[in-house]
Amino acid sequence: MRKPVIAGNWKMHMTCAEARKYMADLVPLLNKSVEDRHIVLAPAFTALSTLAEVVKGSPIELSSQNVHWEDQGAFTAEVSPKMLLEHQVKYAIVGHSEPRKYFSESDEQINLRARSAQAHDLIPIVCVGESNDQRERGEAERVIRRQVEQGLEDILPEKVVVAYEPIWAIGTGKTCDSFEANRICGLIRKWVDYPDLIVQYGGSVKPGNIDEIMSMTDIDGVLVGGASLDPESFARIINYQVI
Ligand code: 13P
Repeated sequence: MRKPVIAGNWKMHMTCAEARKYMADLVPLLNKSVEDRHIVLAPAFTALSTLAEVVKGSPIELSSQNVHWEDQGAFTAEVSPKMLLEHQVKYAIVGHSEPRKYFSESDEQINLRARSAQAHDLIPIVCVGESNDQRERGEAERVIRRQVEQGLEDILPEKVVVAYEPIWAIGTGKTCDSFEANRICGLIRKWVDYPDLIVQYGGSVKPGNIDEIMSMTDIDGVLVGGASLDPESFARIINYQVI
């Protein structure tokens, strides 16, 4: 049985004060019956310790937005798994298309990050997805397969989440057609050859499309950017109902 993971990626948003206010607004909006899904928030590193305090007693778990492969050392601007564990972090997003694009992260580095996360009992959320050009050239499957195979090398499939996030759907309001997203998520599970692999969809997920997305048989949750910044929208997404 694959338990869906509904995750909010705050990207570079929310101060500690804003995070506190957000949690106070969000928690009362959650349905009582959300035990059948994991609920995860990925704030900026600076808000992790505040959130670790305020999520206590709520169903919300924490993720980081990245993790380094060394425990410590001369790696300016990086954060190690040990540092995250101190703040009750359970998941670590790696390979998001933004660091892939802005900091030229390679599949090899992403794999090192994912392995380091698993070695410290953090669940890596490994993001994969094609650009608009790659999709138009008919290369989407090949690109995603390469990202999956290289990013998940030597990764235990029972302790990882893969997020399929087509780049052209991120922050654009253009959601990938649910059936196509479902097809790619199913292919990813097949390539990894593990029937219980958790595969999320991400890219312009909103209160208005969450029920349809979560009704797809191969989609086990969502990674939400913009709509996770508003407690009402994110509560509606967490409280999704299969239609
Ligand atoms: P949006 O939901 O804003 O499209 O962002 C998706 C995303 O990048 C989540 O990691």
